[in-house]
Amino acid sequence: MIPRSVIDEVVRRSDIVQVIGMYVQLKRAGSNWNGLCPFHSEKSPSFTVFPGTDSFYCFGCGAGGDVITFIKKSENLDYVDAVRLLADRAGIEVPDDAGNENRGPSRERIKLMNVAAAKIFHSCLLNDAAAEPARQYLKKREIADATVRHFYLGYAPADFSWLYPRLHAQGFTDEEMTAGFLCGNSNGRVYDYFRGRVIYPIVDTSKNVVAFGGRVLDDSKPKYLNTSDTPAFKKSRNLFALNYARDYCQDYLILCEGYMDVISMHQAGFQNAVATLGTAITEEHARIIAKYTKKVILSYDSDGAGQNATDKAMKLLDGVGVPVRILKMEGAKDPDEYIKKFGKEKFRALIEGSRTGFEFRLESVLSKFPQNDDQNRLRAASELADIISGYGSAVERDLYSSKAASALGIAVEPLREDIEKYRRRRIRQMNNEAGKEAVEVLRNFNDRINPDAARNVRAASAEEAVLGLLLLYPEHRDSVLRGDVKLESEDFFTLLGRKAFDSIMSLHADTEGFSFSLLGEFFTDDEMGRLKSYEVNRTKLSSNGREALLSAARILHEERVKKEQSEPGKNAPSLSDSLLEKRRKLQQKKDGGH
Ligand code: UTP
Ligand code: MN
Repeated sequence: MIPRSVIDEVVRRSDIVQVIGMYVQLKRAGSNWNGLCPFHSEKSPSFTVFPGTDSFYCFGCGAGGDVITFIKKSENLDYVDAVRLLADRAGIEVPDDAGNENRGPSRERIKLMNVAAAKIFHSCLLNDAAAEPARQYLKKREIADATVRHFYLGYAPADFSWLYPRLHAQGFTDEEMTAGFLCGNSNGRVYDYFRGRVIYPIVDTSKNVVAFGGRVLDDSKPKYLNTSDTPAFKKSRNLFALNYARDYCQDYLILCEGYMDVISMHQAGFQNAVATLGTAITEEHARIIAKYTKKVILSYDSDGAGQNATDKAMKLLDGVGVPVRILKMEGAKDPDEYIKKFGKEKFRALIEGSRTGFEFRLESVLSKFPQNDDQNRLRAASELADIISGYGSAVERDLYSSKAASALGIAVEPLREDIEKYRRRRIRQMNNEAGKEAVEVLRNFNDRINPDAARNVRAASAEEAVLGLLLLYPEHRDSVLRGDVKLESEDFFTLLGRKAFDSIMSLHADTEGFSFSLLGEFFTDDEMGRLKSYEVNRTKLSSNGREALLSAARILHEERVKKEQSEPGKNAPSLSDSLLEKRRKLQQKKDGGH
């Protein structure tokens, strides 16, 4: 945990106009500054910096927050690293172990150790006699020497104590090696984790070696070992080869499943290819991808697992507004095999002929139900109606129903009627508390950041008013704290609203007081933007709004009563053990430990 005083100092000493000005060309507009939003593409500026409140907000895409949120989003860092970056810039010292609660080895040491290990593995692959089988293996897989050097591939000999003594000689401790997952520890004996494996270093966009993947040379299991999450590395935030691909993916990015696919593609000249690291794509990955490119070509394996992964990636990328095309590979299981079998020109043709998400779904339904009898045709029609009903835009639904009808050889009107029926059902399910899953499905088309809001619009907008006022005016926070405005966590309908209320109030109750910047440790960047929008919407109405606060609080009470009457006995869960509670406990422990 970074001490509160340091965070305050960093925020105070980082002039938000100056910091954002390094990323965005800003023009003065009255007391604020405007520019083109760096977080979505736009032609006229809706991105605004408010020096008065040290914050920014984009009226186009809803991104917003303070200077720390801006750096988190722009540099793709976590909260602690964003604070560190700003502290560096401002010449403020951050205690070395801050952000590293269990007092394990520091990120800096692990980063250094990873570089050392990458060098040891790489030079082994290039020079050591023990690496001969690995060199043969890579040759058999048609990986050129230049590619080995480009990706800094390595080899870990099949020995329990090969890397260990070498790192040890460079001054790295047992604790550092196990914390960085380069070594395991069995009853006090430290041993190499990667043995007899080709090593793929994972390099982040700041050129740090953050992790390793290691592949066996034969068919033994597990095929790959990967570094687990460490203080310096989260799988869900990194993409293999993004350090190279970032310079080639302005138009589109190719997303595939495996390390080997990426390496083959780069070798064949497709340097805009990346892969996730032994995990499925996450929402965080999708957000990162959205920052770097305008379009994604999904190039997953042609087996069932690959097709399911394609479906998931389509949904997540849709959620961040990145259009997707899907590559249709026949005669090979993955891009690596395809390129080796058919050559890079054929692969380029695949990219050019890639299909839209709907075409992909249409085709998988058609192949599931061969169009040889009416029964199948009906099943296909009904499945497609269901799929099409999930698209948020009426124009899309219209277009896709024509396509589906002509593919099935049926009239479009009845299909449209079915689609409307499915759509009404989806909406009913969404309004229905039991339809949690349907809510999940429709989230992408409604509000991803505060999904509960759609279920009670009256409560949700009252919450927004209350939170906006609490964020802006310390006197309102005082009133709530003293109890002369009656509001408690359980009055809030949405999870986001409740968590925001809890966080704002516990910070306000804290001796050091509330600061918007501190929220950034507990809320995602999107959520920070949403909170900022509550504030910005409030500032447009000029009064400090005690009346508005009281009336919004009244609405929340009414809605709470309604809710409790409709589901007796079911009390809203309390978030008393909120993240802030934890933060305080940790801080106490730490202070006590000194
Ligand atoms: P694949 O099994 O498709 O491997 O797994 P691949 O990348 O095509 O590898 P080659 O061509 O056989 O060498 C796809 C990805 O899933 C992860 C790895 O990231 C791999 O690149 N994976 C797979 C693991 O993490 N562990 C495993 O045991 C297998
Ligand atoms: Mn493969």
